[in-house]
Amino acid sequence: MNIIVTGGAGFIGSNFIFHMLEAHPDYRIICLDKLTYAGNLSTLKSVMDKPNFRFVKLDICDRAGVYKLFEEEKPDIVVNFAAESHVDRSIEDPSVFLQTNIIGTSVLMDACRKYGIKRYHQVSTDEVYGDLPLDRPDLFFTEETPIHTSSPYSSSKAGADLLVMAYHRTFGLPATISRCSNNYGPYHFPEKLIPLMIANCLNDKPLPVYGEGLNVRDWLYVEDHCKAIDLVIHKGRVGEIYNIGGHNEMKNIDIVKLICKELGKPESLITHVKDRLGHDMRYAIDPTKIHNELGWLPETKFADGIKKTIKWYLDNRGWWEEIISGEYQNYYKKMYADRGSSDI
Ligand code: NAD
Ligand code: DAU
Repeated sequence: MNIIVTGGAGFIGSNFIFHMLEAHPDYRIICLDKLTYAGNLSTLKSVMDKPNFRFVKLDICDRAGVYKLFEEEKPDIVVNFAAESHVDRSIEDPSVFLQTNIIGTSVLMDACRKYGIKRYHQVSTDEVYGDLPLDRPDLFFTEETPIHTSSPYSSSKAGADLLVMAYHRTFGLPATISRCSNNYGPYHFPEKLIPLMIANCLNDKPLPVYGEGLNVRDWLYVEDHCKAIDLVIHKGRVGEIYNIGGHNEMKNIDIVKLICKELGKPESLITHVKDRLGHDMRYAIDPTKIHNELGWLPETKFADGIKKTIKWYLDNRGWWEEIISGEYQNYYKKMYADRGSSDI
């Protein structure tokens, strides 16, 4: 089996590559990544020399480049992780989100139609469903929940999902979509809540919590997400959407306090800053379908996953310190100065 994994130098894509090389040592994995600010070749260091792994620096919007790669590799499966993934950046500048997340997806699917494919898998997000109210803990996102997006990011992901379903219906593209809740774990880029708070804590810097920090996210250890996608591409039904989540809802403020506790840092580092525009209140996935159809269940409990994650950031300081010492400094000042906390 030849599998093209796009966005494999990012957080979830790299963890998926590690999982696939381990779980299917007879497969050939080709990682296609543009290496944007979020892509790190150093993340893939441990697999770079494997004979059944190839890295190609390429933009998924580059039609000629993508077609050439398909001609060379004749992939059986394409798993599309490549995306602009940060909500706050999409609020600053939506354009690149539309380009990569929508146009890029269409280029990949056109290549699949031209060269043939056994499966195209779109890695989507629970954010396409919008948010749920805090006072209705009985409500969850199912695959039937209508798309109702809040940010330019989630709208671009929803646009891509609609295109995938259209390519399936109109052209018979053998496609599947998975919509997962918030991931955490190794190689998570430190612009996102958990790694940002770990890095700031370790540097004794303020911990910028948006608003009161009462927003709820449904956290899943990244390895569990990767295992779910492995199941969907092999056993999932073509034309279907699968929600992935582990019933692990937590308020942002509680996550930040937990990180302080684990690292022995004072909660006085917590700084409440200006809220995110259009901030979604609560995400909560109903994973019944993937459980009943494919037997998937999350394996890592949050209490263990967060300890493993913090240990990873302690053991791999070089990885994230290099990131936050570069262009990230400008990003941080720009994003957090307005919010009243630019000290990093
Ligand atoms: P990430 O930002 O860490 O990584 C994205 C990767 O895509 C990077 O390596 C980047 O270089 C690459 N990329 C960006 N634009 C590209 C382009 N035009 N061509 C080729 N490569 C490009 O993102 P992530 O958190 O790993 O998310 C991966 C996917 O999973 C995204 O599609 C995201 O929407 C989805 N998702 C993420 C989460 C989460 O909690 N992080 C949850 C559900 C779904
Ligand atoms: O639900 C899946 C989505 O999860 C993915 O599709 C996205 O790609 C991924 O980035 C993530 O989106 P969120 O917006 O939920 O993640 P983020 O880590 O940016 O924020 C999590 C929560 O923490 C959110 O309520 C905003 C808040 N937050 C975030 C940052 C970066 C803060 O309070 N302070 C911060 O500095």
